[in-house]
Amino acid sequence: MSRFTSTPGFSRRRFLALGSGFSLAAALPVAGLSAAPARAEPRFSGDPFALGVASGDPEPDGAVLWTRLAPDPLAADGRGGMPGYKVPVTWQIAEDPGFRRVRRAGVEWAVPELGHSVHAEVRGLEPDREYWYRFRAGRHVSEAGRTRTAPAADAGIASMAFAFVSCQNYPDGHFTAFRHLAGEDVDVVVHLGDYIYEGGGQGTVGRGHLPAREIHSLADYRVRYGQYKLDPDLQAEHAAHPWIVVLDDHEVDNNWADGLDGDDVGGAEFAARRAAAFQAYYENLPLRRSSLPAGPHMQLYRRLSYGTLAQFHVVDTRQFRDNQACGDGRQFDCDDRLDPARTMLGAEQEAWLLDGLTRSRTTWDVMANQIMTMQGDSAEGIEQAFGMDTWDGYAAARQRLFDGVEKRGIGNFVVVTGDAHRSVAADLKHDFDDPASATVGVEFLGTSVSSGGNGSDQDEWGRIWLQENPHMKFHNVQRGYGVCEVTRESWRTDYRVVPYVSTPGAPVATRARVHVTAGRPGIREVEQLAVPQP
Ligand SMILES: [Fe+2]
Repeated sequence: MSRFTSTPGFSRRRFLALGSGFSLAAALPVAGLSAAPARAEPRFSGDPFALGVASGDPEPDGAVLWTRLAPDPLAADGRGGMPGYKVPVTWQIAEDPGFRRVRRAGVEWAVPELGHSVHAEVRGLEPDREYWYRFRAGRHVSEAGRTRTAPAADAGIASMAFAFVSCQNYPDGHFTAFRHLAGEDVDVVVHLGDYIYEGGGQGTVGRGHLPAREIHSLADYRVRYGQYKLDPDLQAEHAAHPWIVVLDDHEVDNNWADGLDGDDVGGAEFAARRAAAFQAYYENLPLRRSSLPAGPHMQLYRRLSYGTLAQFHVVDTRQFRDNQACGDGRQFDCDDRLDPARTMLGAEQEAWLLDGLTRSRTTWDVMANQIMTMQGDSAEGIEQAFGMDTWDGYAAARQRLFDGVEKRGIGNFVVVTGDAHRSVAADLKHDFDDPASATVGVEFLGTSVSSGGNGSDQDEWGRIWLQENPHMKFHNVQRGYGVCEVTRESWRTDYRVVPYVSTPGAPVATRARVHVTAGRPGIREVEQLAVPQP
């Protein structure tokens, strides 16, 4: 990667100087992957920046800047309308939206082997401040995105804010939540999985999946990402904040686990599908090169900190888990779920997580997680029924985690979670069947952006959950996202909801404000707020 301490503009002369004066072949490591010929002055059939821009994994000195050249993102061959050569893409990042004070610039190869994606890892920026970035390819300049670096690791910042979001099934509804999220004053957005869905559903709101069948090949996954990323609300959100992303199941296949797909079929065929899905995920999200997949393997668990105030432990609950117990689904009597030999994170990641909690010096420790950590009994009365895909299906692994949190004296443990398409705020209990047992932390389960369609304020499932699970303090089934305001003394999660997603343009409202006090594990107060009904 080339870096410039001067402030090159996007003048044609400067760009050509980059192209001829620099050895482009040596410009970045990824170029070594590409056997394709280079074309410094490419011509495109349309706007190569149709999929927008994004930034991610903010550090105190930089972030990842992302784009993917695709003048025809829905081209069935998965090449996005791009020719088979590699293209140099220049980027610049400035202190102002007008790009008068450019602080860094460079050039990256967009190579056909990686879907002409660009992941520029910028260094040398100031901590805890906002920047604007953009790209140029040939004669085309992208829209500008806004990003924000993290505070220095030892900075005693007084507050930070982040949003958490998940589950955007395109055929199920409009991404209105993203449009509203783009206007929120948050430092970073944490995406907890189900960025795409792999099925062929067509829905009823005129947003049928492309291709119109379940996807398996790299070309399929690329087209699917192309379709999602053409959504203007999603693009607006990416351009507004840096994201921290992690995948769940639907980026590959419903309820896959380690080497098995959702139907428990493994082998070479699923390995190839997983590799294709991982590659397309990497190509389309602002991930660091350390997450570049190697076949069906991808390094996603990682840690990001916001000064001494908060630390995000991003976990990967798909790649290393044992298969779902008792045939998956919802089960009444499944002893296997209690087997201490079962793992959710895999031994290595579990040790990494507990080690990180041991070393933690931040006020808050946040686990960015995919599937429900709290117990969720969904059977009325004395019987209990649990979902086998969540931490309930890995109950001993959950107990090891909670014991670890307690033993280490982690006083402010917060889990944010996706997957369930409903919002729940809950206390995490040492023993969920004993309400008098110690409270280990708090979980904020976030609803979906669109999965499940319009939703409702309450439903029968939620009524039973609240009745059977006294640790659950708030429940709602509307679409939206969560916003967390974090200070030294307190934590507040606002559940923002939209009343419908079947048509665009729904207003957003705060359905509940959930308060936690630092040093006192558990939910202190839930402010229930009335929101306009559709
Ligand atoms: Fe989902």
